[in-house]
Amino acid sequence: MTSPPTSPTSESTPSQTASVTAIANQKGGVGKSTTTINLGASLAFQGERVLLVDLDPQGNTSSGLGIDRTQIASSTYDLLIEDTPLEDIVEPTSVRDLFLVPATIELAGAEIELVSLFSREMRLANALKDAREEYDVILIDCPPSLGLLTVNGLAAADEVMIPIQCEYYALEGVSQLIRNVKLVQSNLNPQLEVEGVVLTMFDGRTTLSSDVVEQVRQHFGETTYRTVIPRTVRLSEAPSYGEPIEAYDPMSRGAIAYRELAREYRRRHGRS
Ligand SMILES: Nc1ncnc2c1ncn2[C@@H]1O[C@H](COP(=O)(O)OP(=O)(O)O)[C@@H](O)[C@H]1O
Ligand SMILES: [Mg+2]
Repeated sequence: MTSPPTSPTSESTPSQTASVTAIANQKGGVGKSTTTINLGASLAFQGERVLLVDLDPQGNTSSGLGIDRTQIASSTYDLLIEDTPLEDIVEPTSVRDLFLVPATIELAGAEIELVSLFSREMRLANALKDAREEYDVILIDCPPSLGLLTVNGLAAADEVMIPIQCEYYALEGVSQLIRNVKLVQSNLNPQLEVEGVVLTMFDGRTTLSSDVVEQVRQHFGETTYRTVIPRTVRLSEAPSYGEPIEAYDPMSRGAIAYRELAREYRRRHGRS
């Protein structure tokens, strides 16, 4: 079967609104921030205009892109709590077409401050409304919890990407995340769906890694991305240079993998 012909203008006309993807898993250290930075940068290198939203008070996406968090005038906190307009917060990065809403430690307080605010679950969704016209892809790096910040991320997104580390207990907590996605879907954001599961930190020398890949593919089927991200030292070094892997070491296995993930993402979203 070949796919149906596209309309003659579809190739030259960019999609009207951005694909908004929340990168979420309440487990820490599974590769959410690494994936946000490197998928985002690879998408930008492939010609997409990309906005990253750092929704984690730890700010690994911000520091990993070389943003000095002590020098930031306004951040995700101001977007959520102070109604500061997005355009006053967005920072350029060293990569053309890659932009960032940075996070500072102030954001840790937002989890509590949000509780008493009007429309507390929809603050991010409302703040990003206009950005959908300005960017091709918006990636939201969620914190390692299922609190109000993550709910804001899920409510603002069209879909969720779940990084799963090729390690013991890989699937632990994932069913709880899926339940939360369904709760957000039925209460706040009807269009929300799980767009993909990405296997990270794959170590080809261990059977454990291969077992996890198989287990995840059995559980999630086609939702699982074909591209598997290898565990490599270069990927863990790049953030300390404030660079995505595409800039730090474009020939490395990690760069190749994230480039391929970006291609797969674009195919899934009809962008290539
Ligand atoms: N593919 C990888 N290979 C090697 N190290 C990685 C890889 N992905 C992430 N890391 C490292 O693992 C740690 C956790 O990754 P991170 O992306 O910060 O996870 P999360 O955002 O889910 O907490 C970081 O030190 C990061 O540099
Ligand atoms: Mg993180």
